[in-house]
Amino acid sequence: MRFHIMTLFPDMVMNGLGESITGRAIEKGLFSVNAVNMRDFANNKYNHVDDYTYGGGAGMLIQPGPVYDTYEYIRTGLVKEGKISSEKKLRVVYMTPTGTPFNQSMAENFSKEEDLVILCGHYEGIDERVLEEIVTDNVSIGDFVLTGGELPAMMIVDAVSRLIPGVLGCDESAVFESFYDGLLEYPQYTRPPIFMDKEVPEVLLSGHHQNIEYWRLEQSLKRTKERRPDLYEKYLEVNKEKLEKLVKKGKIKL
Ligand code: ADE
Repeated sequence: MRFHIMTLFPDMVMNGLGESITGRAIEKGLFSVNAVNMRDFANNKYNHVDDYTYGGGAGMLIQPGPVYDTYEYIRTGLVKEGKISSEKKLRVVYMTPTGTPFNQSMAENFSKEEDLVILCGHYEGIDERVLEEIVTDNVSIGDFVLTGGELPAMMIVDAVSRLIPGVLGCDESAVFESFYDGLLEYPQYTRPPIFMDKEVPEVLLSGHHQNIEYWRLEQSLKRTKERRPDLYEKYLEVNKEKLEKLVKKGKIKL
């Protein structure tokens, strides 16, 4: 998979993703990240890409020309390399607080693309006309406003790339599997067996796999109910019968 990041701060993106698991996977060639500086497509001698907003209001807006030219540079580059056909339009994700909230199923959906372009805004945003022209998905990472789209773009690359086979080692791949069921992950413990007078829950030392599974499910349910009542209600709607059976048999408590 190839990620193409349209940004005014390419080093921020490349340095961030060049570390740790994503960095190793890029080195191994499991996916690539190409951050393209939209300032290189400024059409004036000062390299300015922003201007005042029509109609007034605070702040500057990124102009449409450099954004479109950056997109076309990425697209025609892929055409020339024979990676896409000349008429192919790319999937372009625009990072914006006005977008649809990002989630795991979006990450799974994005991971099916061979090429994913991520457009990072800055200042007050980007001229709407070019967004209409190239953007396929408007995505937010939460109900708060950041100074730019680079951190959100890095989050998307991280969440999507960990779904690519080989990016996570065997030790890491199981982590958060429970999230796929719609519940939050249960608490986990490692050595030492006693820390600050707190013991590891006994069942985890029992070696009884079925009981461990029930305990983990119970903990996931408790945690999800407390921290994410919205997810808990959804889970109950689908799994009510299954859970009631387990409660009846005394396997879990709700
Ligand atoms: N850019 C600024 N804030 C953002 C947010 N919450 N999500 C995505 N992109 C953003």
